[in-house]
This record gives sequence, structure tokens and C-alpha cells, in this order.
Amino acid sequence: MVFTKLITCSGPVNIAVIKYWGKRNEELILPSNSSLSATLNQKELKTVTSVMASESFSEDRIWLNKRYKQRKGCHDPLLNCKLHICSQNNFPTAAGLASSASGYATLVFAMGKLFDIPVGELSQIARLGSGSACRSMFGGWVKWEMGEAEDGRDCKAVQTHDECHWPDIRLLVLVVSDTPKETSSTSGMASTVKTSELFQHRVNHVVTKRLGLIEEAITQQNFPVFAQITMQESNQFHAVCLDTYPPIFYMNDVSKSIVDLVTQYNAFSREIKAAYTFDAGPNAVIYTLKESVAEITSLLLHFFPPSTQEGCFLSASIFLKGFSFQID
Ligand code: ADP
Ligand code: DP6
Ligand code: CO
Repeated sequence: MVFTKLITCSGPVNIAVIKYWGKRNEELILPSNSSLSATLNQKELKTVTSVMASESFSEDRIWLNKRYKQRKGCHDPLLNCKLHICSQNNFPTAAGLASSASGYATLVFAMGKLFDIPVGELSQIARLGSGSACRSMFGGWVKWEMGEAEDGRDCKAVQTHDECHWPDIRLLVLVVSDTPKETSSTSGMASTVKTSELFQHRVNHVVTKRLGLIEEAITQQNFPVFAQITMQESNQFHAVCLDTYPPIFYMNDVSKSIVDLVTQYNAFSREIKAAYTFDAGPNAVIYTLKESVAEITSLLLHFFPPSTQEGCFLSASIFLKGFSFQID
């Protein structure tokens, strides 16, 4: 009898409102600043990963989005088994929609099931795959505390508010382009740390203050304060990318017209009703409240009709409730 074990599970992306960008230790994946994000439900965006261990496999293999990838120097401790891993994102990979977060969180979750690793340790392990993945191991609002220790023992993700805390919050995901980015997040942030003075100002004088204010805004469900900080964070993160030498451009012209549209919508409404945020890619996420979803959706559909290739509108509305890793 050949020993074989198969685990399939799916996991969520998270979208940061206080951005992680920069590592103080590249080996241990210790960030230069703390960050905060919301973990989405898996109705629209998710990674599905299967891990199969078998005594009959002669080598480790991994497929990402149906493409075979070479796996170098990995030896699994599960007896004599080699692993075959197959993972698929149902949204654009490497395009600024946090595929590395859901990808590594789901992989580590599946491996954890396979090797019976206590759930409590999984977030720290996921971080080693991709920093932002440590936040996808929890639902609701999640803070990744940078910690102070050199060995990273106090560097960890913690849930600040659960998925039911702000029932009216909604996210709209706008796919501007599904092309993989030219500069990966890993290499982009390494280059920023080396060259940007604005980055130094940001980590020393800006992020901690904003983190305190936005946590309080989330606690109080104060959307205008939450939204303003979210947009300022996105702006500063992209300014830091521009201040990197040579500069990194993640947003494109469609991204910028989404910024304009949200800005004008808020001005016209005489209150902040929507907040844009962009990760390391041109695709937009809009945070808003349930009551504004229909209005914003119709505006977006008017200005970015889905028939045009660029500026296509992916998903109606994502909310936080219902977090879990799902096991087949
Ligand atoms: P993103 O903005 O999508 O997070 P990154 O540059 O941070 O982009 O990371 C993209 C990389 O993450 C991919 O090139 C791949 O190495 C890894 N990745 C993405 N999805 C998965 C997945 N489902 N399983 C394993 N690794 C993944
Ligand atoms: C802009 O976690 O993808 O999305 O740790 O090098 O894998 P690595 O980078 P990654 O960086 C995410 C950057 C961001 C902001 C954020 O998610 O906080
Ligand atoms: Co990423």
C-alpha cells in the first residue's frame, strides 16, 4: 500500500489601509513599520490550494495557476513522501490584489493540516513566504505588529476587531489590469529601503500616528476619519515608490482617474463617502459603506464600462463577515 494524503483548502486576501512597505530584516521578514488590513470573505477573491503527499512521488512539484514551477531545495519532513502542490487564484496574480498574501496563507494553512502544526504558529510561518500573508491568517481587522526584538519573537499579526465589528463596511475591487507587475513587491520594497528618504520620514514620523488614529476610527466606526487616513496612506505609499531610485510606478492612468472620480464624488457629496487604496499594482480597492454601494457602482459603471478592456469592474461588493479557511 502506497501512503498518500491529500489536503485541499481555500484562503482569503487582505487589503491594507496602513501599508507594509520595507523590511528591516529580509531573512526573517521583519517589517520596517506595523501595518493594518481587513481580511475579505472568500465570495469573490480567494486562493485554492491542494497539497498531496505520496510515497510514490519522486520529486517535489508545484503548479501555480496551472503552470508548473520548479521547486528548489525543499525537502518535506513527512516520512518518505514528496509533495505535489497545486494552487490557483481566482483573481489576477502578482497584480496588486494581494495574491502573495492569500497564496502563502493558504499554502501554509494546508501544510499545517498535513503536518499537524498548531494553528497558533501558522501566521509566523506564512510571514516567511510573504510578509502580508501573516495578516490573512486571521479574519476581520488585523494588525501586523512590527515588534522590536532582533530575532522577531514579538513580530506578529493580531486581530484588532472581528469580522462582525463593522457590519456596514464594504469593499469594491476594480480590476484595471490583470498583467503581472514588472517590479515584485519584494524587490520594490528592497529598493525603497536602500534609496528613499521619504521612506525614512514615513517610518519614523508618520505610520505610528496614523495607525493609532485609524484603529480608533475603526473602533468608533467613524468612516470619514477612516477613509481619509486610508487615502493618505495609499498616496504616501505610492509617493515613496516614486521617491525610490530608480522610481517605481505601480499606478497607471486608469488608476489615477479612479482617484479623481472618488475625490470628486466625495467633494460633491460634501462628506467622505468612499476611500480608494492601491497596493503594489494598478488595481483599485474602494472602501465604502453599504448605503453608498449602489451610487458608487453606477458611477463606476458609467465611467469605466466593463466592455472596455481596461478599467473593468470585477466584483460588486465584498464584506468582511464570514471569515474562515475552508477545507474541502
Ligand atoms: P501581489 O500584489 O499579487 O501580492 P507580489 O509581488 O507580492 O504580488 O507576489 C506575487 C507572487 O506571489 C507570485 O509571483 C508568486 O510567487 C506568489 N504567489 C501568488 N499566488 C500564489 C499562490 N496561490 N500560491 C503560492 N504563491 C503564490
Ligand atoms: C503594498 O507582502 O507582497 O501590498 O513580504 O516581500 O512578499 P513580501 O511583500 P508583500 O508586500 C505587500 C505590500 C503592499 C502593502 C500591504 O499589503 O501591507
Ligand atoms: Co504581495
